[in-house]
Amino acid sequence: MPLITSKEMFKKAYEGGYAIGAFNVNNMEIIQGIVDAAKAENAPLILQVSAGARKYANATYLRKMVEAAVIDSDLPICLHLDHGDTFELCKDCIDNGFTSVMIDGSHHSFEDNIALAKRVVEYAHPRGVTVEAELGRLAGVEDDVDVSAEDASYTRPEEVIEFVTKTGVDSLAIAIGTSHGAFKFKPGTKPQLRFDILEEIASKLPNFPIVLHGASSVPQEFVTIINENGGSMPDAIGIPEDMLRQSAKLSVCKINIDSDLRLACTSAIREHFNDHPGHFDPRQYLGDARNRITEIVRHKLVNVLGCNNKADEIVAEYNKSVK
Ligand code: G3H
Ligand code: 13P
Ligand code: ZN
Repeated sequence: MPLITSKEMFKKAYEGGYAIGAFNVNNMEIIQGIVDAAKAENAPLILQVSAGARKYANATYLRKMVEAAVIDSDLPICLHLDHGDTFELCKDCIDNGFTSVMIDGSHHSFEDNIALAKRVVEYAHPRGVTVEAELGRLAGVEDDVDVSAEDASYTRPEEVIEFVTKTGVDSLAIAIGTSHGAFKFKPGTKPQLRFDILEEIASKLPNFPIVLHGASSVPQEFVTIINENGGSMPDAIGIPEDMLRQSAKLSVCKINIDSDLRLACTSAIREHFNDHPGHFDPRQYLGDARNRITEIVRHKLVNVLGCNNKADEIVAEYNKSVK
């Protein structure tokens, strides 16, 4: 089984009312933790690499480790560039074995976002690589924005048909109230997502895969462990799992998760050092971190994304497409 694009994954996910988990990877233990979970649940995976991950771990190391994950698991896995901000970065990934890229021009004007995404699509598609773009901007939780300013960052449904038609992108990341990081809502406020916008976009783009960034749930058990073992993360709040499940049943086919892996990792390591002050072998505490990542990813595959036991139908769809 080679690395595959997101195409077959999103087709089956849309039809089946589930979503593919897109997990950020930065080192070997994170990759192994995620892949062990997918093996246990027979689930497809998107493993995504940010510019920061490339800088930290070296793009070649990450790519080779993801290739090792494919050999080890024989699962359908897509290697995706997360938040590519230039044509050159996307091109480099396309030229070096990535099967999917995101061009994030959401900070540009509508016209410039279209032009940049179109240029990436024109390079990617002849080379068999799928492209995600973003329209609208995710809110930052720390921003003290009033409602109308906040509203302005949501994706505007009236723009999506023109954007998708003119660019030719394969999937679209939208802003409906999720945000990056572990502090997504102000304490005391009720977490809310704009399902009305999601539904309006789905009605304008039938059968078109939508992507949710900033979709970590910030499990409170991890926050408690961190805070009880020397950390300080007061008021860390994420997206309620039932909202993610609901979005996966609608047109959301890809759900991005990074912060929850960081929390799993950090809580395990803090706990390990508190429990074993004499330990100094990285395999001991990184092993705990890897196991905790596996546990949370298994939970998400089954209870949030609903993509457990979906690997086989995606492989079958892929085999049909290469015949
Ligand atoms: O959306 C951002 C991801 O969480 C990646 O974060 O740029 O720190 O690697 P990073
Ligand atoms: P979280 O910070 O909510 O995990 O979002 C990750 C993400 O969107 C990666 O692109
Ligand atoms: Zn993101």
